[in-house]
Amino acid sequence: MPPTRHPPRRAAAVPAPAIDLVDRPAPGGWLARWLAACADLEELFAYHQLLDAVIQEVRGRRIRVEGRWLTDFASCNYLGLDLDPEVIAAIPGYLQRWGTHPSWSRMLGSPAVYPQIEEHLTGLLGVEDALLLQTLTHIHAAVIPSRCWPTRAPSSSTAARTRPSGMAVWSPAPTARPSSASHSTTVVRFPQHDPRALEGLLRRHRRPPRLVCMDGVNSMTGNPPDLKAFAVLGRAHDALLYLDDAHGFGVVGERTRDEPCPYGRRGNGVVRHLGETYDHIVLTGGFSKAYSSLLAFIAGPSALKRLLKVAAPPYLYSGPSPIASLASALVGLQVNDRRGDQLRAVLYARTRRVLDHLDKLGAATLNTSGFPIVEVPLADPEDLPRAGRFLFDHGIYATLAFYPGVPRQEVGFRLQLTAAHTDQQITELLAVLDQLADTIPLRPRHP
Ligand SMILES: Cc1ncc(COP(=O)(O)O)c(C=O)c1O
Repeated sequence: MPPTRHPPRRAAAVPAPAIDLVDRPAPGGWLARWLAACADLEELFAYHQLLDAVIQEVRGRRIRVEGRWLTDFASCNYLGLDLDPEVIAAIPGYLQRWGTHPSWSRMLGSPAVYPQIEEHLTGLLGVEDALLLQTLTHIHAAVIPSRCWPTRAPSSSTAARTRPSGMAVWSPAPTARPSSASHSTTVVRFPQHDPRALEGLLRRHRRPPRLVCMDGVNSMTGNPPDLKAFAVLGRAHDALLYLDDAHGFGVVGERTRDEPCPYGRRGNGVVRHLGETYDHIVLTGGFSKAYSSLLAFIAGPSALKRLLKVAAPPYLYSGPSPIASLASALVGLQVNDRRGDQLRAVLYARTRRVLDHLDKLGAATLNTSGFPIVEVPLADPEDLPRAGRFLFDHGIYATLAFYPGVPRQEVGFRLQLTAAHTDQQITELLAVLDQLADTIPLRPRHP
C-alpha cells in the first residue's frame, strides 16, 4: 500500500474561529466557551479524511473512500453479522411478508417479529422483561429525563411510581450524554472508574429518584466498570444503575469453565459477564454494533416496560425499525445461539494479536480488558491530524479519538476488531502500526 499525498479536503475551512455565527456570542459567554471546547473537532471535521467521509463501496472489511481501498477498523460490527450469508439470505423472506416498513408506531401495533425478538432477548439476558425501541440514542433521550422514575428503584416486585424531579449522576462516557435531561433533573458527573466519588454524590444528593448512568463496556477504553462496587452502592443507597452496554452486548457474556475464550459465552452482556444480578440495574443495549441492525433495548422489570409503553415518545409516536433490521436482529440472535461463541473466539484472537503487538512496541493502550476496542493514545495530542492522515494513506480506516470526546492525554485513535477481519488484514495493520510508531511517537506504555 504505497503512501499518497492528499490535499486538505476543504483547505479553506481550517482557520479559527472555526464557526462563523450570525449572532456572535458575547466574549466569554456560554456559546463562546462551547465553541472553544469543540474547536479541535470542528477543525478536524473541516478537512480530515477519517471524519464525515463518504463510503463508496464495501467488500468484506475493505471499504472504498475517496477512490481508494482501506481496511475498516472503525466498524462496530463485532460479530461480522453485517456480512454473514445466513443473515443476508434470510432478510428477503421477511420483506416479502411484511413489506419494507409497516409504519405504525409501536403504540398502534408491532409486527410479530418485535415480540419474538423481545422474548428471545429476555431469555438470553436472563432478565424479567425487555422493550425494543429504534436506537439507544432514542432510548436515552426518552428515558433518562423521564418523569417516570420511581421514588424507589424498581426491583421485580416494586411497581413504578411517578415523581416529577430527580437526579441523574452521570459517568462521563464520551458518546451518550444527557443532552435532553429535563429542567427538573439535576445532572452531576463523576469519574467512571471511581465508585468512591459516586458514593460521595449519593450521600450529598439524597432525594430520590436517583439514576446513575454509565457505560457497560466503555466505548473508548474497551473496559468494563467495577460493576460490583457500583451495584453495591446502588443497592445501599436505593439508586438505580442505568447501564449503556452498546459495546458489551453480543461481545461479552456469562463465564463458564469450558468457555472458548475469555469473553465468556452467549454474548449476554456486561451484567452477566461480571456475574451480577439485575437488582437495582436497568440494562440498555443496542443491536447497531454486534448485531449490525437498527434496533435497541431497555431491559428490566415488567412494570418498567408497562410504564415506558405509555411514557416513552419513541414507543408512542416514532415509526418502527425497518423490517430488514428486525429480521437481521432476530436471525442474528438465532445465529448467536448456534455460532456466536465461535465468532467471539475469532474476535478475541484478532484482538489479542493487536494488543500483544502494541505491548511489543512499548505503546500504551487504554484497553486492559482484552475486549475488541483498542484506543492508542499519541505522545503529543497535536499530532492527531497527522497520525490520522498517516493511517489513511497507509490503507487503515480508524476512529479519531479527539478532544473533547476524550481527555487531552488520551487523544489518539481507536481500532475496533471484528470477527470478519481476516488474519492477513491484522498482519497489514500491525505493519502500519510499526511504521506509524517510527514516524509519530505513540504514548509509551511505561513513561
Ligand atoms: C456507548 C454508546 N451508546 C450508544 C451508542 C449509539 O447507539 P445507537 O446506534 O443504538 O443509537 C453508541 C454509538 O457509538 C455508543 O458508543
